[in-house]
Amino acid sequence: MSQYILAIDQGTTGTTALLIDRDLQVRGKTTVDFPQHYPQPGWVEHDPEEIWFSVIQAIRRVLGQSGIGGTEIAAIGITNQRETTLLWERDSGRPAHNAIVWQCRRSAEICRELKERGLEPLFREKTGLVLDPYFSGTKLAWMLRRFPELRRQADSGRLAFGTVDSFLAWRLSGGACHLTDVSNASRTLLMNLHTLAWDEELLGILDIPPRLLPEIRPSADIHGHTRGLDVLPDGIPIAGIAGDQQSALFGQLCFETGEAKCTYGTGAFLLENTGNRPVVSRNGLLTTVAWQIGEEARYALEGSAFIAGAAVQWLRDGLGLIQNAAEIEPLAASVPDSAGLVFVPALTGLGAPHWKSEVRGVIHGITRGTTSAHLARATLEGIALQIHDLVRAMSEDLGHPLRHLKVDGGAAGNNLLMQLQADLLETPVIRPALLDTTALGAAFLAGLAVGFWPDPEALKQSRQEERPFLPTMPESMRTELLTRWNRVIQGL
Ligand code: G3P
Repeated sequence: MSQYILAIDQGTTGTTALLIDRDLQVRGKTTVDFPQHYPQPGWVEHDPEEIWFSVIQAIRRVLGQSGIGGTEIAAIGITNQRETTLLWERDSGRPAHNAIVWQCRRSAEICRELKERGLEPLFREKTGLVLDPYFSGTKLAWMLRRFPELRRQADSGRLAFGTVDSFLAWRLSGGACHLTDVSNASRTLLMNLHTLAWDEELLGILDIPPRLLPEIRPSADIHGHTRGLDVLPDGIPIAGIAGDQQSALFGQLCFETGEAKCTYGTGAFLLENTGNRPVVSRNGLLTTVAWQIGEEARYALEGSAFIAGAAVQWLRDGLGLIQNAAEIEPLAASVPDSAGLVFVPALTGLGAPHWKSEVRGVIHGITRGTTSAHLARATLEGIALQIHDLVRAMSEDLGHPLRHLKVDGGAAGNNLLMQLQADLLETPVIRPALLDTTALGAAFLAGLAVGFWPDPEALKQSRQEERPFLPTMPESMRTELLTRWNRVIQGL
């Protein structure tokens, strides 16, 4: 009997494969990193073959390490870095271009052009997104404009477009599936949030041929089956698909309206479940689909900070201030405060709620007394302050404060960061024992689709133990931090 669900979490810097059983016990977990390509300043690419290799390696290793056989897998769930844009040939499956990564700013000019034509309100109303190079639509338009050969092939139906989930479903099914789920489709700038279908008018504006596009499907469903792989037998259902942030919301069991989570990965992403209707933000947040199970779609408001854990990586790789990411916590904790230093980690532009793609990172208030410890502390404060601004915008949009914030992702393992977050928000921050909620969400969706678990309630029964962080910072210190931060942000 099939005993396990395999979740594939294809993230920005690596792929995690995770195996869980019915009692939500993790039976195996492996992460395989893959290379980043920066062809020009502000441009970020992935080689789709390197992504695929990392996926296959991660599956092979997790099966090898756990001693679990492919025939014991009941279903596969896919979750993925969102917005990253791929084009491949339908007959050979070969990539037609490198994947353009969500962080890549190359379509800024197209966004500017669309804004000048007064089209932002239309995109905002239909997609819940803003005209920022972050989303897939203008990345795809850029490829088709830039390379006439790709345009010709696209027009003649020889190419397929997809976000990473589509590409993986295609490859895992031996080319049988060209599909995506609603949560991923809602990040493309091409899907109508109200009809959950590709929007003809928007496709026309961006000059994207509809025949390029995958079928949009619910998040939990049997989408297809594995075929022709070395690492897995044929016939395993590919049954759950969700963008990684929505998947983390599901993995945190935020099934009820008003529940929110923040994932601290490369960037940090705050999502709140807003129920079965899209809520329009008046404060620069995004409206997005959380997931669809059966006929019912759930929506979320989202605030994204492009840089979170990546700021710590920059201290490590760019400045050589620390040897590994974990060192930041003791270094930052070795000083009681950041001595007036403010670090706005907008290394690739400021995302929500400010949306200033031309802004870059700022370190403000350096004195002769500034040390690496102050910079380490200001980095953690900068991450937490960005999230504070997003939570404030979200509370204003929804008209109620957050009861508590569930957290996950690698950097949520940093106790000082979590304490600062609770202090700045004046709200409990709750961290589960298992930080891989992104992979768990995809596993849950897949398991629900194949009846591995009867319903979402069954998942709640097996809830993991959690650690709360409660606010303790004196009000004067909190106000000082916020005042200083706001002054710097306003000057950008
Ligand atoms: O929207 C981008 C997001 O999905 C990337 O997530 O975890 O790969 O940094 P992550």
